[in-house]
Amino acid sequence: MKEKIQEEFKKHFGGEGTLYASAGRINLIGEHTDYNGGYVFPGAIDKVIMAEIRPNDTDKVHVYSIDIDDTAEFGLNEEDAPKQQWARYIFGICREIIKRGGTVKGFDAVFAGNVPLGAGLSSSAALESCFAFALNDLFNGNTIDKFELARIGQSTEHNYCGVNCGIMDQFASVFGKKGNLMRLDCRSMEFEYFPFNPQGYKLVLVDSVVKHELVDSPYNKRRQSCERVAKRLGVETLRDATKEALDAAKSDISAEDYSRAKFVIEEKERVLDVCDALNRGDYETVGQLMYATHNGLSKDYEVSCEELDFLNDVAKECGVTGSRIMGGGFGGCTINLVADDKYDHFIAEAKKRFNEKYGHEPKIYDVVISDGARKVTE
Ligand code: GLA
Repeated sequence: MKEKIQEEFKKHFGGEGTLYASAGRINLIGEHTDYNGGYVFPGAIDKVIMAEIRPNDTDKVHVYSIDIDDTAEFGLNEEDAPKQQWARYIFGICREIIKRGGTVKGFDAVFAGNVPLGAGLSSSAALESCFAFALNDLFNGNTIDKFELARIGQSTEHNYCGVNCGIMDQFASVFGKKGNLMRLDCRSMEFEYFPFNPQGYKLVLVDSVVKHELVDSPYNKRRQSCERVAKRLGVETLRDATKEALDAAKSDISAEDYSRAKFVIEEKERVLDVCDALNRGDYETVGQLMYATHNGLSKDYEVSCEELDFLNDVAKECGVTGSRIMGGGFGGCTINLVADDKYDHFIAEAKKRFNEKYGHEPKIYDVVISDGARKVTE
C-alpha cells in the first residue's frame, strides 16, 4: 500500500510528502455503552488508512483517494464543504481543528486503506484519526493532545456526517497499542492498556459483507432512547442508572426504550466482568459474556440482523467459546473467540453454511492487535 501511495503522490503532485497511518478497531465487549458514559474494551487492528501529505503553501486542499479513484478539492472555510461523502471526513477534521483554535493550511494528499468498509471496523474513524494526527504533526507541532484528536474525529461524525457516535472508535484508532486492548471509562475518560494474548485461543472476525442501510438513522435513534430514559431516571447518562431504578420507572417508559436501557445497564457490567475473567485467564466466562452481549444486541437493542444471528448460531453449534455482533450493528461482522482446535472446523462451516443460505461466503479476518495513529516516515 505504501509504495502505491508514494507512486500516486508523485503522479498527482510530484515529489513526496510525509506518510501517516491510523487503524481500524475491534471491540471485545462494551457495545453502545460509550455514549452512555459506560465502559468499552477496544483495540486497534492491523488494517489501516494510510495517507501521504504535504503542505502546498496555498489555502486549498487537494486529495486523491486511490480506492475510490476520485479527487476532491476544497478550501478551509465552512462554505467550501466538498460534495463527496468521503472527502467530508477530511474537510470535517480540518474544520474541527480550526474551530478549536488550531492551524490548518492548504495541503496535497493521497490516501488508501485496507480497512473493510461497512464491516463495523470503523474505517471512518481510521480516516479521521489518520488526518487528525497528520495535521497535528504538520501544522500544530503536536500540541493537540491525543484525546482532543479523538474528539476532533467524533465531532466530524456529528457535524459533517450525521452520525451521533460515541468516542470509542476514534479513541481506539488514536490510542491503539500493539498487543493491547484498552478498557476505557467513557465518563471519566480514564483508560488502561490490557495486554491481550490468549493462549490457546484466536480472535477472528467473520464478515457477513451485509450492510443494511436503514432509513431514519437507527443509530441516532438508539442514542435518543437512552437519553430519554436517563432523563426520566434523573441521571446524566445510563452509566448511573440501575436495573432497579429502571424497573421502578417501567410504567412511564415505552417498552422499546425500556429494552434499550436494560441492554445498556447489563452491558456496562459485562465489560467489568470480562476484565475480571481475563485477569483470571478464564476465557470460558469471557465467551459466555460475549454470547450474552449478542443476545442483548439482537433481542433488546435490536441492532442485529438475520445474517449475523445466523453466524452467531453457527458459532454456537461449532463450539466457539464466544461470539457476538461487533460495532454499531445493522450488518458487518461477528467477533469470535475460538479455541485453536475448533478454529479450522468453525471457519469451514461458517463459509459453507453462510454460502448455502445467502449465496456468498463471509470474509474472514484474523485479528492482529496493532498500533493506532502514527507517522510512518520521518
Ligand atoms: C459505532 C460508534 C461507536 C459505538 C459503537 C457501538 O461504532 O461509532 O461510538 O457507539 O457503534 O458500540
